Amino acid sequence: MNVSPPNHPSRESLGRRRRRLSVLLSFLTIVVIAISCVTVDRTVMAPPQIPGATFVGAESCATCHDEIAKDFKTASHARLMAKGENAANAGCESCHGPGSLHVESGGKRGTIINPRKSPETCFQCHLDKRGEFNLPHTHPVLSGKVSCGDCHNPHKGDIIKGGGTSTTASEETCFQCHTMQKGPFVFPHEAIREGCTSCHAPHGSVNQKMLIERNANLCLKCHFQQQTAYGQILIGGSNHSGRLNAGTCWGAGCHEAVHGSQVNTSLRF
Ligand code: HEC
Ligand code: HEC
Ligand code: HEC
Ligand code: HEC
Ligand code: HEC
Ligand code: HEC
Ligand code: HEC
Repeated sequence: MNVSPPNHPSRESLGRRRRRLSVLLSFLTIVVIAISCVTVDRTVMAPPQIPGATFVGAESCATCHDEIAKDFKTASHARLMAKGENAANAGCESCHGPGSLHVESGGKRGTIINPRKSPETCFQCHLDKRGEFNLPHTHPVLSGKVSCGDCHNPHKGDIIKGGGTSTTASEETCFQCHTMQKGPFVFPHEAIREGCTSCHAPHGSVNQKMLIERNANLCLKCHFQQQTAYGQILIGGSNHSGRLNAGTCWGAGCHEAVHGSQVNTSLRF
Protein backbone atom coordinates (compact mmCIF):
# COMPACT_ATOMS: atom_id res chain seq x y z
CA MET A 1 0.00 0.00 0.00
CA ASN A 2 1.22 3.45 -0.75
CA VAL A 3 0.77 5.53 2.40
CA SER A 4 1.96 9.08 2.36
CA PRO A 5 1.52 11.38 5.34
CA PRO A 6 -0.86 14.29 4.83
CA ASN A 7 0.69 17.64 3.99
CA HIS A 8 4.03 16.10 3.13
CA PRO A 9 6.27 19.11 2.53
CA SER A 10 7.75 19.37 -0.91
CA ARG A 11 11.49 19.13 -1.40
CA GLU A 12 11.58 22.77 -2.27
CA SER A 13 9.95 24.02 0.90
CA LEU A 14 12.13 21.67 3.01
CA GLY A 15 15.19 23.28 1.46
CA ARG A 16 13.86 26.72 2.26
CA ARG A 17 13.18 25.71 5.83
CA ARG A 18 16.69 24.32 6.24
CA ARG A 19 18.14 27.56 4.93
CA ARG A 20 16.01 29.56 7.32
CA LEU A 21 17.01 27.25 10.15
CA SER A 22 20.70 27.68 9.40
CA VAL A 23 20.35 31.46 9.28
CA LEU A 24 18.63 31.29 12.67
CA LEU A 25 21.34 28.99 14.03
CA SER A 26 24.18 31.23 12.96
CA PHE A 27 22.37 34.20 14.48
CA LEU A 28 22.01 32.27 17.75
CA THR A 29 25.70 31.36 17.64
CA ILE A 30 26.61 35.02 17.35
CA VAL A 31 24.34 35.86 20.28
CA VAL A 32 25.87 33.07 22.39
CA ILE A 33 29.38 34.21 21.55
CA ALA A 34 28.45 37.80 22.34
CA ILE A 35 27.03 36.78 25.72
CA SER A 36 30.02 34.66 26.66
CA CYS A 37 32.35 37.50 25.67
CA VAL A 38 30.52 39.73 28.12
CA THR A 39 31.04 37.13 30.83
CA VAL A 40 34.69 36.66 29.98
CA ASP A 41 35.22 40.41 29.92
CA ARG A 42 33.80 40.75 33.38
CA THR A 43 35.90 37.85 34.54
CA VAL A 44 39.26 39.05 33.34
CA MET A 45 38.43 42.66 34.02
CA ALA A 46 40.28 43.01 37.28
CA PRO A 47 41.26 39.82 39.07
CA PRO A 48 42.29 40.56 42.64
CA GLN A 49 46.02 40.98 43.27
CA ILE A 50 48.26 39.65 46.00
CA PRO A 51 51.85 40.96 45.80
CA GLY A 52 54.23 38.22 44.72
CA ALA A 53 51.55 35.59 44.17
CA THR A 54 50.48 33.87 40.96
CA PHE A 55 47.36 31.94 39.95
CA VAL A 56 47.58 28.20 40.54
CA GLY A 57 44.09 27.02 39.50
CA ALA A 58 41.17 25.58 41.43
CA GLU A 59 42.48 22.00 41.46
CA SER A 60 45.21 22.84 43.91
CA CYS A 61 42.68 24.33 46.32
CA ALA A 62 40.76 21.06 46.26
CA THR A 63 43.64 19.15 47.84
CA CYS A 64 43.04 20.88 51.19
CA HIS A 65 39.55 22.38 50.92
CA ASP A 66 37.89 19.33 49.40
CA GLU A 67 34.47 19.98 50.91
CA ILE A 68 34.19 23.49 49.47
CA ALA A 69 35.64 22.35 46.15
CA LYS A 70 33.03 19.60 45.89
CA ASP A 71 30.13 21.95 46.73
CA PHE A 72 31.41 24.60 44.36
CA LYS A 73 30.29 22.58 41.33
CA THR A 74 26.71 23.57 42.22
CA ALA A 75 27.49 27.25 42.84
CA SER A 76 26.26 30.12 40.66
CA HIS A 77 29.81 31.32 40.13
CA ALA A 78 31.05 27.88 39.02
CA ARG A 79 29.46 28.68 35.67
CA LEU A 80 32.11 31.35 35.19
CA MET A 81 34.82 28.73 35.37
CA ALA A 82 35.64 27.33 31.97
CA LYS A 83 38.38 24.82 31.30
CA GLY A 84 41.91 25.81 30.36
CA GLU A 85 43.47 29.18 30.95
CA ASN A 86 40.29 30.77 32.25
CA ALA A 87 40.00 28.20 35.06
CA ALA A 88 43.09 29.67 36.68
CA ASN A 89 41.56 33.02 37.46
CA ALA A 90 37.84 32.43 37.23
CA GLY A 91 37.57 29.69 39.85
CA CYS A 92 38.31 30.00 43.55
CA GLU A 93 40.93 32.61 42.82
CA SER A 94 38.49 35.02 41.18
CA CYS A 95 37.32 35.89 44.68
CA HIS A 96 40.31 34.82 46.76
CA GLY A 97 43.13 36.15 44.60
CA PRO A 98 46.15 34.26 43.26
CA GLY A 99 46.90 31.37 45.60
CA SER A 100 50.56 30.39 45.07
CA LEU A 101 51.88 31.88 48.32
CA HIS A 102 48.98 30.41 50.28
CA VAL A 103 49.52 26.95 48.81
CA GLU A 104 53.30 27.04 49.30
CA SER A 105 52.88 28.08 52.92
CA GLY A 106 50.55 25.15 53.56
CA GLY A 107 47.60 27.47 54.09
CA LYS A 108 48.98 30.16 56.36
CA ARG A 109 46.47 32.89 57.20
CA GLY A 110 47.04 36.27 55.66
CA THR A 111 48.39 34.77 52.45
CA ILE A 112 45.05 34.82 50.64
CA ILE A 113 42.05 37.15 50.43
CA ASN A 114 39.04 36.38 52.58
CA PRO A 115 36.05 38.40 51.32
CA ARG A 116 34.46 38.12 54.76
CA LYS A 117 36.87 40.82 55.81
CA SER A 118 36.47 43.02 52.74
CA PRO A 119 33.98 43.14 49.88
CA GLU A 120 36.58 44.60 47.50
CA THR A 121 36.97 41.45 45.43
CA CYS A 122 33.23 41.29 44.87
CA PHE A 123 33.16 44.93 43.76
CA GLN A 124 35.77 44.24 41.09
CA CYS A 125 33.19 42.41 39.04
CA HIS A 126 30.02 43.84 40.56
CA LEU A 127 30.92 47.49 40.07
CA ASP A 128 27.39 48.74 40.63
CA LYS A 129 27.30 47.24 44.12
CA ARG A 130 29.98 49.58 45.38
CA GLY A 131 27.65 52.43 44.52
CA GLU A 132 24.68 50.79 46.23
CA PHE A 133 26.65 50.37 49.44
CA ASN A 134 27.60 54.04 49.33
CA LEU A 135 23.99 55.20 49.38
CA PRO A 136 22.83 57.10 52.48
CA HIS A 137 21.00 54.07 53.98
CA THR A 138 22.73 50.72 53.62
CA HIS A 139 23.70 47.59 55.42
CA PRO A 140 27.00 48.33 57.16
CA VAL A 141 29.07 46.23 54.75
CA LEU A 142 31.80 48.79 54.04
CA SER A 143 32.48 49.11 57.77
CA GLY A 144 32.76 45.32 58.00
CA LYS A 145 29.84 44.72 60.38
CA VAL A 146 27.89 42.75 57.77
CA SER A 147 29.46 40.81 54.90
CA CYS A 148 28.23 39.85 51.45
CA GLY A 149 28.52 36.27 52.69
CA ASP A 150 25.88 36.85 55.38
CA CYS A 151 23.24 37.01 52.67
CA HIS A 152 24.97 35.26 49.76
CA ASN A 153 26.40 31.78 49.71
CA PRO A 154 29.35 31.93 47.32
CA HIS A 155 30.30 28.26 47.49
CA LYS A 156 27.11 26.31 47.16
CA GLY A 157 23.94 26.36 45.13
CA ASP A 158 22.08 29.55 44.34
CA ILE A 159 24.12 32.52 45.48
CA ILE A 160 20.97 34.42 46.34
CA LYS A 161 20.12 32.38 49.42
CA GLY A 162 16.74 30.83 48.98
CA GLY A 163 16.65 32.57 45.64
CA GLY A 164 14.47 31.58 42.77
CA THR A 165 11.05 30.46 43.83
CA SER A 166 11.40 30.23 47.58
CA THR A 167 10.75 33.58 49.22
CA THR A 168 10.43 31.92 52.62
CA ALA A 169 14.06 30.87 52.52
CA SER A 170 15.23 34.34 51.53
CA GLU A 171 13.33 35.83 54.47
CA GLU A 172 15.12 33.35 56.71
CA THR A 173 18.31 35.09 55.64
CA CYS A 174 16.98 38.36 57.03
CA PHE A 175 15.54 36.74 60.15
CA GLN A 176 19.02 35.56 61.19
CA CYS A 177 19.59 39.11 62.36
CA HIS A 178 16.15 40.77 62.41
CA THR A 179 14.11 38.69 64.83
CA MET A 180 11.58 41.47 65.57
CA GLN A 181 10.10 41.24 62.08
CA LYS A 182 9.71 37.48 62.30
CA GLY A 183 6.70 37.38 64.58
CA PRO A 184 4.70 35.20 64.87
CA PHE A 185 1.99 37.83 64.64
CA VAL A 186 -1.70 37.42 65.35
CA PHE A 187 -2.29 39.67 62.35
CA PRO A 188 0.62 39.23 59.98
CA HIS A 189 0.93 41.60 57.04
CA GLU A 190 0.53 39.37 54.03
CA ALA A 191 3.00 41.53 52.11
CA ILE A 192 5.79 39.71 53.95
CA ARG A 193 4.96 36.58 51.98
CA GLU A 194 6.26 38.31 48.89
CA GLY A 195 9.58 38.75 50.62
CA CYS A 196 11.28 41.58 52.46
CA THR A 197 12.56 42.95 49.17
CA SER A 198 9.05 43.97 48.12
CA CYS A 199 9.63 47.00 50.39
CA HIS A 200 13.37 47.07 51.19
CA ALA A 201 16.42 47.35 48.96
CA PRO A 202 18.78 44.95 50.74
CA HIS A 203 21.98 46.66 49.57
CA GLY A 204 21.03 50.26 50.06
CA SER A 205 18.70 53.10 49.23
CA VAL A 206 18.39 56.87 49.32
CA ASN A 207 15.35 56.36 51.54
CA GLN A 208 15.33 55.82 55.29
CA LYS A 209 15.18 52.20 56.46
CA MET A 210 16.34 51.20 52.99
CA LEU A 211 12.80 51.48 51.67
CA ILE A 212 12.36 51.26 47.92
CA GLU A 213 9.88 54.20 48.01
CA ARG A 214 9.74 56.98 50.54
CA ASN A 215 6.01 57.68 50.40
CA ALA A 216 2.59 56.13 49.88
CA ASN A 217 3.74 54.63 46.57
CA LEU A 218 5.42 51.91 48.63
CA CYS A 219 2.01 50.67 49.70
CA LEU A 220 -0.06 51.68 46.70
CA LYS A 221 1.64 49.24 44.39
CA CYS A 222 -0.32 46.52 46.17
CA HIS A 223 -3.22 48.48 47.70
CA PHE A 224 -5.19 50.35 45.12
CA GLN A 225 -6.96 53.62 45.78
CA GLN A 226 -10.45 54.21 44.55
CA GLN A 227 -12.26 57.49 44.22
CA THR A 228 -15.98 57.45 44.98
CA ALA A 229 -18.59 59.51 43.15
CA TYR A 230 -18.48 61.94 46.10
CA GLY A 231 -14.72 62.44 45.74
CA GLN A 232 -13.74 60.28 48.70
CA ILE A 233 -10.51 58.31 48.44
CA LEU A 234 -10.88 54.72 49.53
CA ILE A 235 -8.04 52.32 50.28
CA GLY A 236 -9.00 48.80 51.29
CA GLY A 237 -12.57 50.04 51.56
CA SER A 238 -11.81 52.66 54.21
CA ASN A 239 -11.96 56.41 53.74
CA HIS A 240 -8.46 57.85 53.36
CA SER A 241 -9.38 61.35 52.15
CA GLY A 242 -6.88 63.80 53.55
CA ARG A 243 -4.89 61.08 55.30
CA LEU A 244 -2.47 60.61 52.44
CA ASN A 245 -1.19 64.17 52.89
CA ALA A 246 -0.81 63.78 56.65
CA GLY A 247 2.45 61.80 56.40
CA THR A 248 3.65 58.34 55.52
CA CYS A 249 1.24 55.40 55.70
CA TRP A 250 3.44 53.93 58.44
CA GLY A 251 3.78 57.17 60.42
CA ALA A 252 2.55 57.82 63.96
CA GLY A 253 -1.11 56.99 64.43
CA CYS A 254 -1.32 55.12 61.12
CA HIS A 255 -0.06 51.66 60.16
CA GLU A 256 2.83 51.61 62.58
CA ALA A 257 2.90 47.83 62.84
CA VAL A 258 3.70 47.47 59.18
CA HIS A 259 5.31 44.03 59.53
CA GLY A 260 2.47 42.60 61.60
CA SER A 261 0.47 43.25 64.72
CA GLN A 262 -0.52 41.30 67.82
CA VAL A 263 -3.66 43.33 68.44
CA ASN A 264 -4.90 45.23 65.42
CA THR A 265 -6.20 43.96 62.09
CA SER A 266 -5.35 47.26 60.44
CA LEU A 267 -1.75 47.04 61.60
CA ARG A 268 -2.15 50.25 63.59
CA PHE A 269 -0.01 49.15 66.56
C1 HEC B 1 48.21 22.85 51.59
C2 HEC B 1 46.82 22.96 51.96
C3 HEC B 1 46.05 24.15 51.40
C4 HEC B 1 45.87 24.49 50.07
C5 HEC B 1 46.46 23.79 48.84
C6 HEC B 1 45.00 25.63 50.07
N1 HEC B 1 44.65 25.98 51.34
FE1 HEC B 1 43.44 27.50 51.91
N2 HEC B 1 43.80 27.10 53.86
C7 HEC B 1 44.54 26.04 54.33
C8 HEC B 1 44.61 26.11 55.78
C9 HEC B 1 45.33 25.10 56.68
C10 HEC B 1 43.90 27.28 56.15
C11 HEC B 1 43.75 27.86 57.52
C12 HEC B 1 42.62 27.31 58.22
C13 HEC B 1 42.53 27.94 59.58
O1 HEC B 1 43.53 28.42 60.09
O2 HEC B 1 41.44 27.95 60.08
C14 HEC B 1 43.39 27.87 54.93
C15 HEC B 1 42.62 29.02 54.88
C16 HEC B 1 42.05 29.54 53.73
C17 HEC B 1 41.21 30.69 53.68
C18 HEC B 1 40.82 31.58 54.86
C19 HEC B 1 41.93 32.57 55.05
C20 HEC B 1 41.67 33.61 56.11
O3 HEC B 1 42.57 34.44 56.30
O4 HEC B 1 40.59 33.64 56.71
C21 HEC B 1 40.86 30.87 52.37
C22 HEC B 1 40.00 31.97 51.81
C23 HEC B 1 41.50 29.83 51.61
N3 HEC B 1 42.21 29.03 52.45
C24 HEC B 1 41.39 29.67 50.25
C25 HEC B 1 42.16 28.81 49.49
C26 HEC B 1 42.19 28.80 48.04
C27 HEC B 1 41.36 29.71 47.15
C28 HEC B 1 43.10 27.85 47.67
C29 HEC B 1 43.53 27.52 46.25
C30 HEC B 1 44.17 28.59 45.52
C31 HEC B 1 43.62 27.26 48.89
N4 HEC B 1 43.03 27.86 49.97
C32 HEC B 1 44.55 26.24 48.91
C33 HEC B 1 45.16 25.07 53.55
C34 HEC B 1 45.27 25.10 52.19
C1 HEC C 1 32.09 34.23 44.43
C2 HEC C 1 33.28 34.40 45.19
C3 HEC C 1 33.93 33.17 45.76
C4 HEC C 1 34.40 32.08 45.08
C5 HEC C 1 34.38 31.85 43.58
C6 HEC C 1 34.97 31.20 46.06
N1 HEC C 1 34.84 31.74 47.32
FE1 HEC C 1 35.61 31.03 49.05
N2 HEC C 1 34.81 32.58 50.10
C7 HEC C 1 34.05 33.58 49.54
C8 HEC C 1 33.48 34.39 50.59
C9 HEC C 1 32.54 35.57 50.41
C10 HEC C 1 33.96 33.86 51.81
C11 HEC C 1 33.63 34.35 53.20
C12 HEC C 1 32.32 33.71 53.62
C13 HEC C 1 31.74 34.39 54.82
O1 HEC C 1 31.56 35.58 54.80
O2 HEC C 1 31.45 33.66 55.76
C14 HEC C 1 34.81 32.72 51.47
C15 HEC C 1 35.50 31.94 52.39
C16 HEC C 1 36.33 30.87 52.05
C17 HEC C 1 37.12 30.11 52.97
C18 HEC C 1 37.22 30.34 54.44
C19 HEC C 1 36.14 29.55 55.07
C20 HEC C 1 35.93 29.86 56.48
O3 HEC C 1 35.05 29.20 57.03
O4 HEC C 1 36.58 30.76 57.04
C21 HEC C 1 37.74 29.12 52.25
C22 HEC C 1 38.68 28.05 52.79
C23 HEC C 1 37.34 29.27 50.87
N3 HEC C 1 36.47 30.35 50.78
C24 HEC C 1 37.75 28.45 49.83
C25 HEC C 1 37.26 28.52 48.52
C26 HEC C 1 37.55 27.53 47.49
C27 HEC C 1 38.41 26.31 47.68
C28 HEC C 1 36.92 27.94 46.36
C29 HEC C 1 36.86 27.26 45.00
C30 HEC C 1 36.36 25.89 45.01
C31 HEC C 1 36.26 29.20 46.68
N4 HEC C 1 36.46 29.49 48.00
C32 HEC C 1 35.55 29.97 45.77
C33 HEC C 1 33.87 33.81 48.20
C34 HEC C 1 34.21 32.94 47.18
C1 HEC D 1 35.43 37.35 38.49
C2 HEC D 1 34.26 38.19 38.51
C3 HEC D 1 33.33 38.02 39.73
C4 HEC D 1 33.65 38.09 41.06
C5 HEC D 1 35.02 38.31 41.69
C6 HEC D 1 32.41 37.95 41.78
N1 HEC D 1 31.38 37.80 40.89
FE1 HEC D 1 29.41 37.52 41.37
N2 HEC D 1 28.98 37.16 39.42
C7 HEC D 1 29.85 37.35 38.36
C8 HEC D 1 29.13 37.08 37.12
C9 HEC D 1 29.71 37.20 35.71
C10 HEC D 1 27.81 36.70 37.49
C11 HEC D 1 26.67 36.25 36.57
C12 HEC D 1 26.73 34.76 36.51
C13 HEC D 1 25.43 34.09 36.35
O1 HEC D 1 24.41 34.74 36.16
O2 HEC D 1 25.43 32.87 36.45
C14 HEC D 1 27.75 36.77 38.94
C15 HEC D 1 26.62 36.52 39.68
C16 HEC D 1 26.45 36.89 41.03
C17 HEC D 1 25.21 36.87 41.77
C18 HEC D 1 23.87 36.41 41.23
C19 HEC D 1 23.27 37.39 40.30
C20 HEC D 1 21.97 36.90 39.77
O3 HEC D 1 21.29 37.75 39.22
O4 HEC D 1 21.62 35.72 39.90
C21 HEC D 1 25.49 37.28 43.04
C22 HEC D 1 24.50 37.45 44.18
C23 HEC D 1 26.91 37.54 43.11
N3 HEC D 1 27.47 37.29 41.87
C24 HEC D 1 27.58 37.94 44.25
C25 HEC D 1 28.96 38.00 44.36
C26 HEC D 1 29.68 38.17 45.61
C27 HEC D 1 29.04 38.32 46.97
C28 HEC D 1 31.01 38.18 45.30
C29 HEC D 1 32.19 38.30 46.25
C30 HEC D 1 32.26 37.30 47.30
C31 HEC D 1 31.12 38.02 43.87
N4 HEC D 1 29.86 37.89 43.33
C32 HEC D 1 32.31 38.00 43.16
C33 HEC D 1 31.17 37.72 38.45
C34 HEC D 1 31.89 37.83 39.63
C1 HEC E 1 21.46 42.13 53.84
C2 HEC E 1 21.60 41.08 52.89
C3 HEC E 1 22.52 41.30 51.71
C4 HEC E 1 23.84 41.72 51.72
C5 HEC E 1 24.70 42.08 52.92
C6 HEC E 1 24.29 41.70 50.34
N1 HEC E 1 23.28 41.30 49.53
FE1 HEC E 1 23.34 41.10 47.50
N2 HEC E 1 21.35 40.59 47.47
C7 HEC E 1 20.57 40.42 48.58
C8 HEC E 1 19.23 39.98 48.18
C9 HEC E 1 18.07 39.66 49.10
C10 HEC E 1 19.25 39.94 46.76
C11 HEC E 1 18.10 39.56 45.83
C12 HEC E 1 17.41 40.85 45.46
C13 HEC E 1 16.08 40.62 44.85
O1 HEC E 1 15.66 39.48 44.69
O2 HEC E 1 15.43 41.63 44.57
C14 HEC E 1 20.61 40.31 46.35
C15 HEC E 1 21.04 40.37 45.02
C16 HEC E 1 22.37 40.55 44.63
C17 HEC E 1 22.85 40.50 43.26
C18 HEC E 1 22.03 40.18 42.02
C19 HEC E 1 20.94 41.15 41.77
C20 HEC E 1 21.45 42.56 41.67
O3 HEC E 1 21.01 43.38 42.49
O4 HEC E 1 22.32 42.86 40.84
C21 HEC E 1 24.20 40.76 43.30
C22 HEC E 1 25.16 40.80 42.13
C23 HEC E 1 24.57 40.96 44.69
N3 HEC E 1 23.42 40.83 45.46
C24 HEC E 1 25.86 41.23 45.15
C25 HEC E 1 26.19 41.56 46.46
C26 HEC E 1 27.52 41.95 46.90
C27 HEC E 1 28.72 42.05 46.01
C28 HEC E 1 27.45 42.16 48.24
C29 HEC E 1 28.52 42.65 49.18
C30 HEC E 1 29.26 43.83 48.77
C31 HEC E 1 26.06 41.91 48.65
N4 HEC E 1 25.33 41.56 47.54
C32 HEC E 1 25.58 42.02 49.95
C33 HEC E 1 20.94 40.59 49.90
C34 HEC E 1 22.18 41.05 50.32
C1 HEC F 1 24.25 39.55 59.38
C2 HEC F 1 23.13 40.26 59.95
C3 HEC F 1 22.10 40.87 59.02
C4 HEC F 1 21.37 40.25 58.03
C5 HEC F 1 21.49 38.82 57.53
C6 HEC F 1 20.44 41.24 57.54
N1 HEC F 1 20.60 42.41 58.22
FE1 HEC F 1 19.47 44.11 58.02
N2 HEC F 1 20.71 45.08 59.31
C7 HEC F 1 21.78 44.52 59.98
C8 HEC F 1 22.50 45.57 60.68
C9 HEC F 1 23.75 45.36 61.53
C10 HEC F 1 21.81 46.78 60.40
C11 HEC F 1 22.17 48.18 60.87
C12 HEC F 1 21.52 48.39 62.17
C13 HEC F 1 21.84 49.77 62.66
O1 HEC F 1 22.47 50.55 61.97
O2 HEC F 1 21.39 50.03 63.78
C14 HEC F 1 20.68 46.44 59.56
C15 HEC F 1 19.72 47.34 59.12
C16 HEC F 1 18.60 47.01 58.39
C17 HEC F 1 17.50 47.90 58.03
C18 HEC F 1 17.43 49.40 58.29
C19 HEC F 1 17.33 49.82 59.66
C20 HEC F 1 17.56 51.28 59.74
O3 HEC F 1 17.45 51.76 60.85
O4 HEC F 1 17.87 51.97 58.75
C21 HEC F 1 16.61 47.20 57.29
C22 HEC F 1 15.32 47.71 56.69
C23 HEC F 1 17.15 45.87 57.15
N3 HEC F 1 18.34 45.78 57.84
C24 HEC F 1 16.56 44.87 56.39
C25 HEC F 1 17.15 43.64 56.12
C26 HEC F 1 16.66 42.71 55.12
C27 HEC F 1 15.45 42.93 54.26
C28 HEC F 1 17.49 41.62 55.17
C29 HEC F 1 17.43 40.38 54.32
C30 HEC F 1 17.55 40.58 52.86
C31 HEC F 1 18.51 41.88 56.18
N4 HEC F 1 18.27 43.11 56.71
C32 HEC F 1 19.52 40.99 56.53
C33 HEC F 1 22.13 43.19 59.98
C34 HEC F 1 21.62 42.23 59.12
C1 HEC G 1 5.01 46.22 53.24
C2 HEC G 1 6.34 46.76 53.20
C3 HEC G 1 7.38 46.09 54.06
C4 HEC G 1 7.79 44.78 54.01
C5 HEC G 1 7.30 43.67 53.12
C6 HEC G 1 8.88 44.67 54.97
N1 HEC G 1 9.10 45.87 55.57
FE1 HEC G 1 10.50 46.31 56.95
N2 HEC G 1 9.84 48.21 57.08
C7 HEC G 1 8.80 48.74 56.34
C8 HEC G 1 8.61 50.13 56.71
C9 HEC G 1 7.58 51.06 56.11
C10 HEC G 1 9.56 50.41 57.70
C11 HEC G 1 9.78 51.75 58.44
C12 HEC G 1 8.99 51.72 59.71
C13 HEC G 1 9.21 52.98 60.50
O1 HEC G 1 10.00 53.82 60.11
O2 HEC G 1 8.57 53.06 61.55
C14 HEC G 1 10.32 49.19 57.92
C15 HEC G 1 11.37 49.05 58.81
C16 HEC G 1 12.17 47.92 58.95
C17 HEC G 1 13.30 47.81 59.83
C18 HEC G 1 13.83 48.87 60.74
C19 HEC G 1 13.11 48.71 62.06
C20 HEC G 1 13.35 49.84 62.98
O3 HEC G 1 12.75 49.76 64.07
O4 HEC G 1 14.04 50.81 62.66
C21 HEC G 1 13.80 46.54 59.68
C22 HEC G 1 15.00 45.95 60.39
C23 HEC G 1 12.96 45.87 58.73
N3 HEC G 1 11.97 46.73 58.32
C24 HEC G 1 13.15 44.56 58.33
C25 HEC G 1 12.30 43.88 57.48
C26 HEC G 1 12.40 42.47 57.19
C27 HEC G 1 13.46 41.56 57.75
C28 HEC G 1 11.40 42.17 56.33
C29 HEC G 1 11.04 40.80 55.76
C30 HEC G 1 10.67 39.82 56.75
C31 HEC G 1 10.64 43.39 56.08
N4 HEC G 1 11.21 44.39 56.81
C32 HEC G 1 9.57 43.49 55.21
C33 HEC G 1 8.09 48.10 55.37
C34 HEC G 1 8.19 46.77 55.05
C1 HEC H 1 3.72 43.26 48.17
C2 HEC H 1 2.36 43.73 48.30
C3 HEC H 1 2.03 44.63 49.47
C4 HEC H 1 2.64 45.80 49.83
C5 HEC H 1 3.84 46.46 49.18
C6 HEC H 1 1.90 46.32 50.94
N1 HEC H 1 0.88 45.47 51.25
FE1 HEC H 1 -0.47 45.70 52.78
N2 HEC H 1 -1.30 43.91 52.34
C7 HEC H 1 -0.97 43.13 51.28
C8 HEC H 1 -1.85 41.97 51.23
C9 HEC H 1 -1.81 40.84 50.21
C10 HEC H 1 -2.77 42.12 52.33
C11 HEC H 1 -3.92 41.18 52.73
C12 HEC H 1 -5.07 41.35 51.79
C13 HEC H 1 -5.72 42.67 51.96
O1 HEC H 1 -6.24 42.93 53.05
O2 HEC H 1 -5.72 43.48 51.01
C14 HEC H 1 -2.37 43.35 52.99
C15 HEC H 1 -3.05 43.86 54.09
C16 HEC H 1 -2.78 45.09 54.66
C17 HEC H 1 -3.53 45.68 55.77
C18 HEC H 1 -4.64 45.01 56.52
C19 HEC H 1 -5.93 45.33 55.89
C20 HEC H 1 -7.07 44.80 56.76
O3 HEC H 1 -7.83 45.63 57.18
O4 HEC H 1 -7.12 43.60 57.00
C21 HEC H 1 -3.01 46.90 56.00
C22 HEC H 1 -3.45 47.92 57.04
C23 HEC H 1 -1.90 47.10 55.06
N3 HEC H 1 -1.82 45.99 54.26
C24 HEC H 1 -1.13 48.22 55.01
C25 HEC H 1 -0.03 48.39 54.17
C26 HEC H 1 0.86 49.51 54.22
C27 HEC H 1 0.75 50.66 55.18
C28 HEC H 1 1.79 49.31 53.25
C29 HEC H 1 2.97 50.19 52.91
C30 HEC H 1 3.95 50.36 53.97
C31 HEC H 1 1.47 48.05 52.59
N4 HEC H 1 0.35 47.53 53.18
C32 HEC H 1 2.21 47.50 51.55
C33 HEC H 1 0.06 43.34 50.37
C34 HEC H 1 0.93 44.43 50.38
